[in-house]
Amino acid sequence: MKLKIAVLPGDGIGPEIMEQGVAVVKAVAEKFSHEVSFEEGICGADAIDKVGDPFPEQTYELCKNSDAVLFAAVGDLRFDNDPTAKVRPEQGLLAMRKKLGLFANIRPVQTFPGLVHKSPLKDEIVQGTDFICIRELTGGMYFGEKYQDNEKAYDTNFYSRPEIERILKVAFQYAMQRNRHLTVVDKANVLASSRLWRQVAKEMEPQYPEVKVDYMFVDNASMRMIQTPTFFDVMVTENTFGDILTDEGSCISGSMGLLPSASTGTSTPVFEPVHGSWPQAKGQNIANPVAEILSAAMLFEYFNLKEEGAMIRKAVAASLEQNVRTPEIQVEGGAHYGTREVGAWIVDFIRKA
Ligand code: IPM
Ligand code: MN
Repeated sequence: MKLKIAVLPGDGIGPEIMEQGVAVVKAVAEKFSHEVSFEEGICGADAIDKVGDPFPEQTYELCKNSDAVLFAAVGDLRFDNDPTAKVRPEQGLLAMRKKLGLFANIRPVQTFPGLVHKSPLKDEIVQGTDFICIRELTGGMYFGEKYQDNEKAYDTNFYSRPEIERILKVAFQYAMQRNRHLTVVDKANVLASSRLWRQVAKEMEPQYPEVKVDYMFVDNASMRMIQTPTFFDVMVTENTFGDILTDEGSCISGSMGLLPSASTGTSTPVFEPVHGSWPQAKGQNIANPVAEILSAAMLFEYFNLKEEGAMIRKAVAASLEQNVRTPEIQVEGGAHYGTREVGAWIVDFIRKA
């Protein structure tokens, strides 16, 4: 297969983990004889510094004309500490989502053998957790009408029926491929937008008779996620709730540095770690490259290259098993592996496989 990949390293630890992500894609492409080409684009604080725009037109064009985007992270302390900043790196991420029509954000929440003890939850609670959260990504309060003056401010949680239908369709389809259990998370006891979500979901249920659907208020869902995370198979929710719940989900696994995500929609799909740019760790060779590497696995799987994805997952599992781990998950007294060393080990495993 021929694949043109747009590479967006962004800020903070982004470039370091991206180097490893790209190396893994190259190793897999070589192994399976795919012709993969890479072209780098700027985004985030890096792009603000260079051209004054966190998602410049040239980066958009590059993404649009590629088969997939491999993204790392954006964000920089200079902007976090300055509430008056007119342009922010995160606006680049939102612009990318909107312009590429990335309405479906797929965030898996799973545990890794040997890492369960790293979870803030008790072993017996977290053991076996394996679900995906499907977060609507281009609607709701993030993009609804906003207003702010010194006395009042509002954000509008707008959702249209087609927006709800298309994300629910993705969710039902995922449920069909998994354990056929879908949880629709909303706040229908209070919010009109949630009531429409629930109404549309109920209307769609008969099209997927094999899927068991339940409805859960978001406050309850946040509780269930830490009480009985194994309850969930596929969860679907609106943009803001999904943002909050997926942060909760990402820490269940034991390290945020392990979880990848995919964002798909009407144009080029984007694959990126769930974690952010961790500017404090920039250049220190301590960031975990696994989330970026597993994002590359999701990229291959998106194109139905299942063996390729499985090969990456196997290599990552082997690295974890053999304690080839970055500091935040290293076992006590274990050898030191940095971002580069973990990446190189995984590449080597794939080459020899
Ligand atoms: C995420 C992030 C973004 C979001 C920020 C950086 C705008 O938290 O991808 O979850 O809120 O969507
Ligand atoms: Mn978030």
